Amino acid sequence: MGAASNAHHTTSRRHGHQLILVTGGAGFIGSNFVLDWLATGNTPVVNLDRLTYAGNLHNLAAIKDDSRHVFVRGDIADRALVAALLQRYQPRAIVHFAAESHVDRSIHGPAEFIQTNLVGTFALLEEARAYWSGLPHAPREAFRFLHVSTDEVYGSLAAEDPAFSESTPYAPNSPYAASKAGSDHLVRAYHHTYGLPTVTTNCSNNYGPFQFPEKLIPLIILNAFRDKALPIYGDGRNVRDWLYVGDHCEGIRVALARGLSGETYNIGGRAERTNIDVVTAVCAIMDEHRPQNAPHSRLITYVKDRPGHDRRYAIDPGKIERELGWRPRQRFEDASGEYRTWVATNYGERNPA
Ligand code: NAD
Ligand code: TYD
Repeated sequence: MGAASNAHHTTSRRHGHQLILVTGGAGFIGSNFVLDWLATGNTPVVNLDRLTYAGNLHNLAAIKDDSRHVFVRGDIADRALVAALLQRYQPRAIVHFAAESHVDRSIHGPAEFIQTNLVGTFALLEEARAYWSGLPHAPREAFRFLHVSTDEVYGSLAAEDPAFSESTPYAPNSPYAASKAGSDHLVRAYHHTYGLPTVTTNCSNNYGPFQFPEKLIPLIILNAFRDKALPIYGDGRNVRDWLYVGDHCEGIRVALARGLSGETYNIGGRAERTNIDVVTAVCAIMDEHRPQNAPHSRLITYVKDRPGHDRRYAIDPGKIERELGWRPRQRFEDASGEYRTWVATNYGERNPA
């Protein structure tokens, strides 16, 4: 990381039109993607991340001495920087994770969401288009702009509604969802108008290592460790469709390798759970880990609902399953074993209650 400029030149000369540029690769999903990418023996990664509150270089500690990873601290909206990186490294693809990602923050302060998710994605698309149009024929044909998005662009489902498919009309309800929907539309337009070879993936709620503890599952784990209230919004019956982050990363790798230009793919875990069921499951794991503080469910506290809180999300991943052969591997219930280890590693020693 922060490799010296000589290393930068070596990486660019040796790997032109092979390496990939990842944005937001110090965040939750981006860091899992970069680690998995290098672990599965892939080509080098240039990782552009602004290191907002949500980005953390500790997530990438396992590859700090890996010369296949070049970390660049910067903003996707900095067009001169993005243009210089594209020229220097000549990537064969851009995998775009960088975003403001938390719904509650978007309710309290939407401006950053418009800036990064919309204006930032626009800047990245403009520079990607300029770079891609100047490529020789073969790398130009092979180039991909993979845009990582969310199921929240589709709005909210009633209990009996079918799951979201790629043809579900967009109906974003939060400023976060609206900013992601806008970025999806820009990506679509850049394909349609300019022919930029884009692929968009819309994924459901992720869980796994390195998630910032403002999101439901890590927040509940951390609060349970500290013997603090476990806040449940509204009646706790809102439903989310949970996917293990490693499965999401595999879906993105598959979409990058085999996804058709201009297509969108929904990625989901076929694991719909109410929030109260998720929190109760986490409490049961905590009870095993710290029996002296059981039952952790005594900390569950119903609080005022999130304004505009979407009732239910559910993804139909049939298209990526049928067309690209991807499937979620990790069952939500089996993940509890992994969570036990993760809880012990992340919170057990460093943050004793
Ligand atoms: P995150 O908030 O954990 O990480 C975002 C990363 O982007 C951080 O490292 C941050 O420093 C970086 N970043 C923010 N603004 C930037 C900017 N202007 N320039 C450069 N870097 C910037 O987010 P996440 O949960 O890892 O989500 C990654 C992507 O996946 C987002 O686009 C999000 O919309 C999407 N997504 C997330 C989920 C989920 O469950 N977390 C589900 C579906 C889709
Ligand atoms: P979150 O992790 O913020 O993801 P998203 O809003 O993108 O789905 O929230 C997941 C669900 O958990 C959502 O229905 C809101 C709810 N929630 C709580 O009940 N309490 C909390 O403290 C948080 C952060 C979320």
